[in-house]
Amino acid sequence: MARCLITRELTGTAPDRLAGAGHEVEVRRERLPPSHLELLAAAPRFDALLTMLTDPVDEEVLAVSPDLHAIANYAVGTDNIDLNAATAQGIPVGNTPDVLTETTADLALALMLALMRRLREGEGEVRAGRWVTWEPARLLGRDLHGATVLIVGAGRIGRAVARRLEGFGCRVVTAGRGDELDPLLGEADVVTLHCPLTRDTRGLIGARELAAMKTGAYLVNTARGPIVDTEALVAALGEGSIAGAALDVTDPEPLPPEHPLTRVPGLLVVPHIASATHATREAMADLAVDNLLAALAGERMPHCANPEVYER
Ligand code: DGY
Repeated sequence: MARCLITRELTGTAPDRLAGAGHEVEVRRERLPPSHLELLAAAPRFDALLTMLTDPVDEEVLAVSPDLHAIANYAVGTDNIDLNAATAQGIPVGNTPDVLTETTADLALALMLALMRRLREGEGEVRAGRWVTWEPARLLGRDLHGATVLIVGAGRIGRAVARRLEGFGCRVVTAGRGDELDPLLGEADVVTLHCPLTRDTRGLIGARELAAMKTGAYLVNTARGPIVDTEALVAALGEGSIAGAALDVTDPEPLPPEHPLTRVPGLLVVPHIASATHATREAMADLAVDNLLAALAGERMPHCANPEVYER
């Protein structure tokens, strides 16, 4: 029997499945994530953690948790976990790829369309009683169909976005790991980010890259906030050097309502909801539990973010 901590309440049957397999389960029922201090105090009491992307499982947390056998992150991204330290301690870290690919790609398209067709401003006009008549030149936006879209990240989600955009008649250009971004940035009407947050991609879109984009181009980020240099984005939007940005993820996250980013024109922001559908969140919980159950049974996790742990 293993002691498992689930750091937030999930939809679906995750605790029941773990308990049904004979494990002892504690669910942390707070709305806010555990702080680093809280994790430092809690993690040593458990054999397995089912964590969220908000939970900082760093080297220090791992070092004080010698009994930890498995971590299942309820996300495809694992940038909240020190994978190298986990590997060094022999701890497999599971993640939840595939099940959220199409849902995330849907939101990327929704953000592009909403931004380019000015849905937030349009809705604001209706609610404020400013919809006085049909007008020939009010709330004009840009077409997504026929646009050139640069997809940064050639993984599952990037490919799912590409499939949708091809249906829209877009010209799709993909930049994978190791591809030079600079020559591609100047061609795109939309740049959409679908790469993981790593040492190499932190700050990937900074002042220089934003300046290389067309005036009138849009940036969409459904990957991770720190891939974009927030200060540089505030400046680019403030100066109008790009037309707009639609963000599902921000740096910092959550974005405080008084943050300078909320005051610049051309910003559409939603609170990290790319995978937030009933079906997808249940599938993510199921996969996270599959990962934990496998590891606790001494088997390989079906989706492991540090597979090198099995080669030790
Ligand atoms: C992930 O799984 O990494 C997503 O950001 C969750 O929405």
